[in-house]
Amino acid sequence: MAETLTDTPRSTRPSGPKGRFLSGSLSDFRDDPIRFLSSNQEAYGDIAFFRFLGLPVYQVSHPDDVRTVLVDPEGAFTKGEILEGFRPLVGKGILLSEGDVHKRKRRMMQPAFHPKRVKEYAAEMVREAEALVASWEHGQEVDMAAEMNRVTLAIASRTLFGAELTEREMSDVAAAMRAFAGWYHQSTHPLGRLLQHFPTEATVTFREAKKRLSAVIHRMMRERRKSGDTGDILSMLVFAKDADGDGAAFTDEEIHDEAVTLLVAGHETTGATLAWAFARLSDEPEVAEKLAAEADRVLGDRSASFEDVPKLVYAEGVFAETLRFYPSALALPRQAQKDVVLAGHEVPKGSIVLTAAYCVHRDPRFWDEPEAFRPERWEGGVRKARTKMTYFPFGGGSRVCIGEAFAWMEGTLLLATIARAFVGKRHANHPLASETLFTNRPKGGVPMTLASRSRRPR
Ligand code: HEM
Repeated sequence: MAETLTDTPRSTRPSGPKGRFLSGSLSDFRDDPIRFLSSNQEAYGDIAFFRFLGLPVYQVSHPDDVRTVLVDPEGAFTKGEILEGFRPLVGKGILLSEGDVHKRKRRMMQPAFHPKRVKEYAAEMVREAEALVASWEHGQEVDMAAEMNRVTLAIASRTLFGAELTEREMSDVAAAMRAFAGWYHQSTHPLGRLLQHFPTEATVTFREAKKRLSAVIHRMMRERRKSGDTGDILSMLVFAKDADGDGAAFTDEEIHDEAVTLLVAGHETTGATLAWAFARLSDEPEVAEKLAAEADRVLGDRSASFEDVPKLVYAEGVFAETLRFYPSALALPRQAQKDVVLAGHEVPKGSIVLTAAYCVHRDPRFWDEPEAFRPERWEGGVRKARTKMTYFPFGGGSRVCIGEAFAWMEGTLLLATIARAFVGKRHANHPLASETLFTNRPKGGVPMTLASRSRRPR
């Protein structure tokens, strides 16, 4: 636990894995982050110390310390060096911006994520989910991870950018995500910084794929400039003036980088979470049945709408429980900009701190039967666990996910719409494992066979 001011922090370093000569624990983290984070918590408790290539790293696994780091009332932390690996993808976008620049971007983008605006996206989400379901047949084999990725990408591009992506553009975006994952993996290699300067396969593939992703974004920007303000987020980026600040507009580079950030953040995470959800539902047939029964009861024969969301309590619980088990970010990193005290230890300026969501979300001190997948535990709503920081799949403080309300609505509506039409059975010969390239995804996808339920959405 974080100490109070009257406690004297220990100047000794917390214990932790020894790691290897020069690279420290980087390879162990890179090879299997889940095992690395869990075994640190098990062996060393709420705080563990190790190094990544000489950089001091502290893993914290207690909600009080997570709050100190993420809510950060003293402004002691920045996103830091570890997240710089995302820079080639998201550039100067909001995700990695700091201080006043971040505040300005957040202020300018916030209106697009206001609950009133998010409400308008519900119909689009349901339309895309129903189109997907209508394209499926009883007995069909699908990769649920790819299906969820496609549907969430279609939703993000329609709702945020008012654009329909062509098949080619869809695959260009998906290829850019895969190429970035490969590049990111290379960047976390002990020789990663050096490798970036060589035309390795990962570097060249990512460079080419990024060009095609940028072409998709530029096409959308050109169209919005021609069409004028249509009220979507892209319009806001293209035509916005910072009314509360200096009245400046976003530059072209900023619009591009924000659009890439939103397109990526707006579909990768929700797509992966829904893929995990359907994989888990296949293993939990009673949960799948309850989910479908709730959708039948609430929706009858009609399509889901925004007004149904508060009634789809169980569906929201399935989404919440999925994010507890499989948070998109296993650990959120920060870098201390001054000396701080965490779990009773002095943490010097410059240190990296990893807030281990994966560990906190499964800690029996905070969760009753943490290994049980129980959507019912969320019936009172997710708020309590959020304030206590025993649950932080969307982060916390001023950097909390801007798309959180969007994600809850999308997750709830898609689960209800899909689960009442089809039940997916996971292929037994494909074990469920995690692949944590840059978000936590099911390794090798989720091959499934679909069985139609009798009732289909219109
Ligand atoms: C299940 C779905 C999602 C999860 C688990 C998730 C998770 C997160 C997390 C953990 C952060 C904070 C990162 C940090 O503190 O370092 C974040 C930030 C962000 N997310 Fe999400 N996200 C999801 C969906 C979305 C959606 C749908 C959008 C957009 C439509 C979005 C846009 C963003 C943006 C722009 C930021 C940066 C905010 C800032 O720095 O001020 N996310 N997300």
